[in-house]
Amino acid sequence: MLPAIAWKNGVLVMVDQRRLPWKEQYLNLKTVEEVARAIEDMVIRGAPAIGIAAAYGLALGMRSLKPGADPERDFDRFYRRLWRTRPTARNLFWALERMKRVFEENKNTDLSRLKKILLAEARKIEKEDLEINRKIGENGEGLIPDGATILTHCNAGALATAGYGTALGVIRSAFARKKKIKVLACETRPFLQGARLTVWELARDRIPVTLITDNMAGWLMARGEVGLVIAGADRIARNGDTANKIGTYSLAVLARQHRIPFYVAAPLSTFDFQLRTGREIPIEERNPEEVRRLGGRLLTLPEVPVKNPAFDVTPGRLISAIITEKAIIKPPFTREIGKIMTTLK
Ligand code: MRU
Repeated sequence: MLPAIAWKNGVLVMVDQRRLPWKEQYLNLKTVEEVARAIEDMVIRGAPAIGIAAAYGLALGMRSLKPGADPERDFDRFYRRLWRTRPTARNLFWALERMKRVFEENKNTDLSRLKKILLAEARKIEKEDLEINRKIGENGEGLIPDGATILTHCNAGALATAGYGTALGVIRSAFARKKKIKVLACETRPFLQGARLTVWELARDRIPVTLITDNMAGWLMARGEVGLVIAGADRIARNGDTANKIGTYSLAVLARQHRIPFYVAAPLSTFDFQLRTGREIPIEERNPEEVRRLGGRLLTLPEVPVKNPAFDVTPGRLISAIITEKAIIKPPFTREIGKIMTTLK
């Protein structure tokens, strides 16, 4: 499986996800600014992968410090730059906060040791994410009946994580158990993560996948052609409200109308235990040009106003279960997520 991100000989290597599936091009990132831009410009995307990139970004920045530098001031500068890259994915802030805790605990050790400790922590975040995804896969595959047609949205796969994936991890695990499954991938306008990335990933693994446009989902459900929906998450509030790629909410409404299970698969690092409901989740508004153009070509009048919220929030009441590395969380979410919170303290 192709890793979205890897640390190699002192540089951060990423496959440029904007060019997939046409070109497998790797970028070597050497500075915090390059990592921050890669996150903003969607070279790397997907909540867990963004968190891993930010952790390595901090490690990269600190490695560039010369003897006599002020590590506290520079760490803070790098941290604040990465913090501003994308507002919705909880994993970004989770990873930055974790790196900051490690920095605080070790800031008085000598600089060369501090650099090693921070890099080791970033590597640990990456390694743990891969293990977590495999656990999510194992925990969730039991929800997938043999012969199921599974609809998924955006890309919550190996490219969006350290590898394996969350929603696609569950699908991979079911496939590995020889279940005869089929996947319907929504193309996911405007950035086409479904058409470009999910189709590519699943085809590489020989998992049967069919592409649909986003507006076909309702009709396919009405015709009985969808057995269940499984999506990833960018941030989950304490009541189960889930921010994910724009279009996820519409799928959840349609799934409820057609009495189809709607599952979310996500690591606990995607939960924002500070937030009571999804109303508090910040939703990223991206550049209108992403909607106005397709492959660089204008689709509409150049002056027409365009909206481009990158995420929506699916209310917890529309979610059948949330699959995590620890357990499958079922409603009522406020109570069940509360229980998980107490075990984490
Ligand atoms: O804008 P993106 O491509 O970063 O959005 C990604 C998603 O919405 C994913 O579903 C989510 O981050 C989960 S990835 C395991």
